[in-house]
Amino acid sequence: MPSHRVSYDLAEAPLASGEVAIIGAGPGDPGLLTLRALSLIEQADCLVYDRLVSREVLALASPRARRFYVGKASRCHALTQDETNALLVRLSREGRRVVRLKGGDPYIFGRGGEEAEVLIEHGVSFRVVPGITSAQGCAAYGGFPLTHRDHAQSVTFVTGHCKGDGDLALNWASLAAPNQTTVFYMGLANAELIRGELQRHGLPASHPVALVERGTTPEQRRVITCLGELVETIASEGLKPPTLIVVGEVVRLADTLSQPVPEQAAFIEGAVLERVAL
Ligand SMILES: C[S@@+](CC[C@H](N)C(=O)[O-])C[C@H]1O[C@@H](n2cnc3c(N)ncnc32)[C@H](O)[C@@H]1O
Repeated sequence: MPSHRVSYDLAEAPLASGEVAIIGAGPGDPGLLTLRALSLIEQADCLVYDRLVSREVLALASPRARRFYVGKASRCHALTQDETNALLVRLSREGRRVVRLKGGDPYIFGRGGEEAEVLIEHGVSFRVVPGITSAQGCAAYGGFPLTHRDHAQSVTFVTGHCKGDGDLALNWASLAAPNQTTVFYMGLANAELIRGELQRHGLPASHPVALVERGTTPEQRRVITCLGELVETIASEGLKPPTLIVVGEVVRLADTLSQPVPEQAAFIEGAVLERVAL
């Protein structure tokens, strides 16, 4: 297949010794990485990365860069958040140029804010590079817009999972209001609750829902269903994280706007490239 090589000069200071760059790696397709992200990844001495960062993105770093997997799957953490924070501080104190790579955008359900707070607390200098969040990637590659003048005047990104497995206390009345799109991140385990509350607050069982698993990767699966069938569809299709639940009339455009997923990377399944000694 013909390819196209991109070369571009960025007016950005190089990554300094002891500095941490918190970078959004996007939802999977390495082609969705920003130029700033690429440039900083190439400069890194150390990469500290999560589960949802693709193999191709990691391969963009120097072969000499040390790679630390700190990934999180639901209730199964390679490192606790405190250990990850400590690792970032330690690598910085050793004078490394550190890239902290996160799936999607680091400031959208990515705990990037918490890590930045810890770096400030320890006097570590850092910069943050946004990434394409999975809602954007899944919508574009899944074939539906998130807003549309005829169907949705707003879009809301919501967590479907609560800190410490607590109750999912959301403003259900506002999420069930018409003419909007609601995207639930990490919502599979609470699908029954999501369906029940949205219907109780007025959305009909026929309200359209898209489920996008591993969006923007070659393994992307997009399933169109309706609110009343949400739980049964997840079970019958065997959908697993990472999956987004997108609720809204925009989903009706999915057949018209659908396009093939471009060829590219697969997810790394929790490979530990370097064990972390704390
Ligand atoms: C901890 S959140 C991280 C979100 C990330 N910071 C972002 O901006 O997309 C993980 C959840 O994001 C969603 N997610 C991330 N990548 C995804 C993908 N490629 N396809 C579908 N959902 C994805 C899933 O709901 C997953 O459970």
